[in-house]
Amino acid sequence: MYLKGRHLLNSTDFSIDELSSLIHLAEAISENPAYYSESCKGQVMASLFYEPSTRTRLSFDAAMKRLGGTVIGFSDPVISSHSKGESIEDTVRTVECYSDIIVMRHPEPFKPHKLSKLISNPLINAGDGSNQHPTQTLADLFTIYMYKKRLSNLKIGFCGDLKYGRTVHSLIKVMDRYEGNTFTCISPDSLKLPEEIIKDLRSEVIKCNQLEKTMKDLDILYMTRIQKERFPTAQEYENCKGYYILTKEEMKYAKEDAIIMHPLPRVDEIHESVDSDKRAVYFQQARAGMYMRMALILSLLGINKVQYVRPESLWLEPFLDDSRQVLGDRCQVQG
Ligand code: CP
Repeated sequence: MYLKGRHLLNSTDFSIDELSSLIHLAEAISENPAYYSESCKGQVMASLFYEPSTRTRLSFDAAMKRLGGTVIGFSDPVISSHSKGESIEDTVRTVECYSDIIVMRHPEPFKPHKLSKLISNPLINAGDGSNQHPTQTLADLFTIYMYKKRLSNLKIGFCGDLKYGRTVHSLIKVMDRYEGNTFTCISPDSLKLPEEIIKDLRSEVIKCNQLEKTMKDLDILYMTRIQKERFPTAQEYENCKGYYILTKEEMKYAKEDAIIMHPLPRVDEIHESVDSDKRAVYFQQARAGMYMRMALILSLLGINKVQYVRPESLWLEPFLDDSRQVLGDRCQVQG
């Protein structure tokens, strides 16, 4: 894996073996965080959030601090010179002078892609409007790996706002690269997965609008929030609000070994009574996000310390020979 100096803008920017290596590194970090606690000493991460966030911003913040680095930035552009009329291009160029890596969330699709051309330090897209959320995908992959022990041959149901939900747009493209996965897209007609995404998928895609009927077949149910902030009118949101609510009752239809994922935040689409079900893994998913972001920061900064990789980790499919070699060389310290 050689991710040093690269941007992360789309969920498909990394190859399958690069994703495998990141997952294994996240796993190693989660098993021995103390080993990595000074890895980023002297490094500065800039965190520029032009849109609200709890998990992404704070998990990046926690990730960098747990690696011994420091964080600068803002959670609301109103407190930056943006409010004096400074262009975002000038802000990013300036912030690059103070930091080693930049994490950015912006409401406009492809804004981080455009800004990345202005700088040479790594820029991580932490969500660009309804387009992509690649680091959520990394968190999702690590979560699936933890619970299902594979990323292939899975029946995955995506439920809710598949039109505006960027986490689904990012994840489905990556899961499509693994063999034997099938996708059931459960949404109201007005919130279907965009055709421009479906047309590029090679896996089987089933479309439906009833959650209950599909649950018995699913290995993973990926619930999403109706994205109120992306609707053109309040009325259109009101028409879809509360369309799907997963309850304890409906969980009776789910397989014993199914997992329920959600990128969070949730509003009402998963009833709190589901939280105590062992199949509900969305808070573990949030935790996985922090470890995965630690792995990502280390990798983009070129501080890729692999302390120990368990032999049973090597099953991840598909798994290219060259990454197997690197991961097979256990107890190795790089960088
Ligand atoms: N999953 C996610 O992106 O959550 P936040 O909007 O709270 O960052």
